[in-house]
Amino acid sequence: MPEDDDLKVRPVRWQDGLVLIDQTRLPGELRHVRIEDVDALIEAIRSLAVRGAPALGVAGAYGVAVALRQGAREGWDGGRVLEAVERIRHARPTAVNLARGTDRAAARLADGVDAVLEEAAAVAREDVAANRRLSELGADWLLARIGHDRPLRLVTHCNAGALATAGWGTALGVVRELHRRGRVELVYVDETRPLLQGARLTAWELEQEGIAHLVQADSAAPSTILYQGVDAAVVGADRVAANGDTANKIGTLGVALACARAGVPFMVAAPTTTVDAATPDGSAIHIELRDPDEVAGFGAARTAPAGSAGFNPAFDVTPGTLVDALATELGVAEVSRGELPGQLWSGSL
Ligand code: MRU
Repeated sequence: MPEDDDLKVRPVRWQDGLVLIDQTRLPGELRHVRIEDVDALIEAIRSLAVRGAPALGVAGAYGVAVALRQGAREGWDGGRVLEAVERIRHARPTAVNLARGTDRAAARLADGVDAVLEEAAAVAREDVAANRRLSELGADWLLARIGHDRPLRLVTHCNAGALATAGWGTALGVVRELHRRGRVELVYVDETRPLLQGARLTAWELEQEGIAHLVQADSAAPSTILYQGVDAAVVGADRVAANGDTANKIGTLGVALACARAGVPFMVAAPTTTVDAATPDGSAIHIELRDPDEVAGFGAARTAPAGSAGFNPAFDVTPGTLVDALATELGVAEVSRGELPGQLWSGSL
């Protein structure tokens, strides 16, 4: 697509078949993997080879084509294809984009594989366009709110960049836009235990972009926000409920609480595809519980005693009352002041 020509990172693409960047290998190795069947896609999603809400939406959409092609090869009937699509849809529970992207492409199943691929490409294209727009609107809002003319000191958590989307980024899209305007001094990157999406992926992206950054332990974030002159925190989202409660990577809530205490803006940057009007509030969001061993060790090495079990929720929910700004492609909702995501669609913001 012409408008996507300038994308340097494309985590999910179709090139005679589904090709993913294997994000588990970064930053050491930029390796692409070809996904030949549904089981391989589900494993890639669960192992976080592909991850981040909008990227999961694109992977789910292309996954429908993977299922159709596998079905044709192996003589599946329609029911078996639908069953495979359902498995993809539910491979991870928290990011609403996975179900949304899969459903969009699945709605074209009856029209054949070309129609499914067309729909999946549209999911990707629209995500890039939405991310570009919300990045501009988010940057405008932050600069207006912060008020001073100096470059900003920012905190981000997890990875909400090109790797987590169709190739532009939400929270890192805002950071990139601020950088383009010469308004970023430094980004504090939370390492994001236990799988290190911040230290491995966000730091890699910022390095590629030449944006000054420091990687810090997640537990350093509140202190940094209170005592290191931080101007704002910008994070992504996996699902935003109708009341603005926001599920994002575990540890986001601590960032939001620290921002509230410090009186600095806490921004969630997410396309409207991540807003789920059918989920009334955060209590209805299914939080993925991952393998306890991911937190009972560091990388391949076990650090906790053999008899100690781990507790490993992959996401937390930040109450909407702590979300100063929800930056979407339709506008910015000041949720903590009572503006609801639904008002973005009604145009009443
Ligand atoms: O477990 P992950 O790496 O898929 O979690 C990703 C996040 O929490 C991101 O912040 C979120 O999906 C937004 S991506 C634009």
